[in-house]
Amino acid sequence: MTTHYYTASSLDGFLATPDHSLHWLLEQDIDEHGPMNYDAFIEGVGAVAMGATTYEWVLEYGGPWPYSLPAWVFTHRTLPTPPGADVRFAQGDVRDVHAAMIQAAGGRDVWIVGGGELVGQFADAGLLDELWVQYAPVTLGAGAPLLPRALDLELIDVARNRAFLCGHYRVRGPLPPASEA
Ligand SMILES: NC(=O)c1ccc[n+]([C@@H]2O[C@H](COP(=O)([O-])OP(=O)(O)OC[C@H]3O[C@@H](n4cnc5c(N)ncnc54)[C@H](OP(=O)(O)O)[C@@H]3O)[C@@H](O)[C@H]2O)c1
Repeated sequence: MTTHYYTASSLDGFLATPDHSLHWLLEQDIDEHGPMNYDAFIEGVGAVAMGATTYEWVLEYGGPWPYSLPAWVFTHRTLPTPPGADVRFAQGDVRDVHAAMIQAAGGRDVWIVGGGELVGQFADAGLLDELWVQYAPVTLGAGAPLLPRALDLELIDVARNRAFLCGHYRVRGPLPPASEA
């Protein structure tokens, strides 16, 4: 059972613009059957989690609810649930939610969709195993951060999918301070 963070990013490490637009991403060329594609990835996933801003973006712009899997949404607010969706709201410590996700995933992997700070909370708890980042050929200068933590990663695989530079990484652990490197 592996805990993944699979996402697209600008080249300078942002998931979205400061006003949470993804226009720069959605206009990019990608082969949906190409290297590191979403369909192949999601086949192995049994549960997902995301933060409230990501959830609100999916509700507003994402069309019909895209997941047939149990989905945990981290928020301190009361948010709507799309009809028929298995959405479970949570707050606070990610460790309890991670345990529930593993239980629900029935032997498949789990996916932390984002944003970066929420993924960082899983990394802080030692619960993040792998990163898949599809880098779009843009820089944004500012926005929602990819992963605001200092982590040591191992590059497992790299590929080009049309406009995207795709990297697959294993999380080794926290990046040691310079004096210990
Ligand atoms: N490029 C991509 O492929 C990609 C992937 C994922 C996301 N995105 C975009 O990136 C942006 C990410 O937004 P974001 O940085 O604001 O992150 P986010 O994780 O989507 O949302 C942050 C919010 O999640 C809630 N939250 C986080 N941790 C919590 C915890 N432990 N307990 C309770 N609530 C918690 C809080 O919401 P409350 O204020 O409700 O408490 C917090 O304000 C969005 O625009 C999203 O659409 C892009």
